[in-house]
Amino acid sequence: MKVVIATHNRHKVQEIRDILSEQEIELLSLDSFPEIGEIIEDGDTLEDNARKKARTVYNATGILSLADDTGLEVEALGGRPGVYSARYSGEHATYEQNNRKLLGELKKFPPEKRKAKFRCVISIIGKGIDEIAAGEVPGRIIDEVRGKNGFGYDPLFMADGYDITYAEMDSDLKNKLSHRARALEKAKIILTRLSGENRAM
Ligand code: IMP
Repeated sequence: MKVVIATHNRHKVQEIRDILSEQEIELLSLDSFPEIGEIIEDGDTLEDNARKKARTVYNATGILSLADDTGLEVEALGGRPGVYSARYSGEHATYEQNNRKLLGELKKFPPEKRKAKFRCVISIIGKGIDEIAAGEVPGRIIDEVRGKNGFGYDPLFMADGYDITYAEMDSDLKNKLSHRARALEKAKIILTRLSGENRAM
């Protein structure tokens, strides 16, 4: 079974590869399809964006495509940045700029008001196939960056039950408990079913 990971984000590709490593799936990345450029994420929801990415890549390749869209939803900010997590501090913002903006916006909030969750939505698109799998992890935003691993908001996010950030975890631990791991656990079940039905080529 072949699946294209429909993202240009090399961190996501690595995590998805690690988490799906024991499956009998040949995972391709967009490096194999240089003609597919940036896919504009202009949907109103994570589901819309994940579907758009997977659909674009399936239409271009004819191979079952899997896309992830992720948002960090902060309670004190009414769920922002959410679907706008990548461009929280502007178009083409760096991870550092987004983290700085988040710290600034949360400055006035005490620890108990800094609840947040990561939500990951995965879309799987193929011939006659349109499946969604989602996973989330509750936690909180700390008041300074900590840790060097991972990417994005990892240095600011502490999952409930842990006193280290995602960025202080090694990749094995993050990939066991993360929002992406939880969504991919469900995606694995879908892929196994599709493979059993001989619907995924
Ligand atoms: P995307 O729209 O799914 O590519 O992701 C939106 C933004 O969320 C990214 O630019 C990252 O800043 C952030 N993000 C996505 N996944 C993670 C993660 O696993 N850890 C930390 N930040 C993430």
